[in-house]
Amino acid sequence: MTLFKNVTDLNHKQSDIHIADGKNIEIDGSKLLSLPGLIDPHVHFRVPGLEHKEDWCTGAKAALKGGYSYVFDMPNTIPPTTTQERLDAKINLINQQLNQVKLPLKYRLFFGADKNNFNEINKVKDYIIGIKVFMGSSTGDLLMDDLSSLHAIYAIAAKFNLIIALHAEDEKIVKHNTQKYLHQTEFKYHSLIRSVEAATTAVELVIELTKIYNVRSYVLHVSTKEELELIKQAKQINLPVYAETCPHYLFLDDEMYDKLHGLGKMNPPLRKKINQQYLWDAIAQGYIDTIGSDHAPHSLAEKDQLLHQCPSGVPGIETTLPLMLTAYKNNKITLPNLINLLHYNPKRIFALDTTDDIVLANIVDYKQLENKQLCTKVGWSPYAGMNLTGYPEFFISNSQIYDLQAI
Ligand code: DOR
Ligand code: ZN
Repeated sequence: MTLFKNVTDLNHKQSDIHIADGKNIEIDGSKLLSLPGLIDPHVHFRVPGLEHKEDWCTGAKAALKGGYSYVFDMPNTIPPTTTQERLDAKINLINQQLNQVKLPLKYRLFFGADKNNFNEINKVKDYIIGIKVFMGSSTGDLLMDDLSSLHAIYAIAAKFNLIIALHAEDEKIVKHNTQKYLHQTEFKYHSLIRSVEAATTAVELVIELTKIYNVRSYVLHVSTKEELELIKQAKQINLPVYAETCPHYLFLDDEMYDKLHGLGKMNPPLRKKINQQYLWDAIAQGYIDTIGSDHAPHSLAEKDQLLHQCPSGVPGIETTLPLMLTAYKNNKITLPNLINLLHYNPKRIFALDTTDDIVLANIVDYKQLENKQLCTKVGWSPYAGMNLTGYPEFFISNSQIYDLQAI
């Protein structure tokens, strides 16, 4: 048996955790908080086709190290996950890679909405976690920016009772602004190109479609006060609209481009700092349902390009929990809210059967985040240098203990 002594639980009580693993070890748990294995509803692990950015060997290590037992992966790969054949091939590749590293990461896949492949959804509906719709183009070539296709996908989702996850940025506005700022070179223009108006225009449409079809709409990466207002109103009239935000909108802002350059480029973009307080308030009031890491790695060489060439996206699965537990220690969020966002809400919204995985995170010691401690293949983080607590130290699954410093 391995015995963790005096571990703190979510009710702030200390007790011992016994793991029947045939060993005879006692570990001081007095700095550790125990949490259920986290659920990340939004990752890009890049298989197939973009394995130089991430694969499921490195991605699974990064996930476990971040305290996650479940991830939902996005379909904007090469090729995109838009047919049953591609979905099956992707599942095979993922399983092979997870077998290789022997890590107990569980996963589900989003299926890409593609106006030329509506009939594929019928074939995969029972084993996908939901449909991903890109209303504005981002990394990859998935795009559904015309009204008739959006109506069609909502009608299909209604018929099969599927959830739709939306990248809600209006393509027309983004395109128009891209032309307008084509000759600009400073990264701060990214936030003007992918404007607040681009996000709100798309979220308004999502709410209209939700009203018509009564389909569950999961709005990805909500980043502004204006989107929050719309979502609040929709929730108040009991529409099945759910909101996800991401750590980068809670901890970074558009003044940081001077320091981050391309490392601060993601879609939707960094916003004015004032939005952060609205996001924290919405968390406290229960209008934000989940935090997705939107773990979207690109290599340092790819990120070290000029504004219009630099790809959008930041890695995040290893830093979400330390950032959030540091915020908890700074009284920005309560522990029950934190664990609702990172476990109970995604479990409920996506009707997941979760296991009883346990994460033990050190909530006493602080350490500056260093790129060299990361398992993601790209080896960088926009949060490098930040002094954080809450790093997971142990992951326990099926009576097996993973020492996270050793993986
Ligand atoms: O910043 C982003 N990166 N936003 C997206 O929508 C896609 C993602 C990626 O896959 O790189
Ligand atoms: Zn994403």
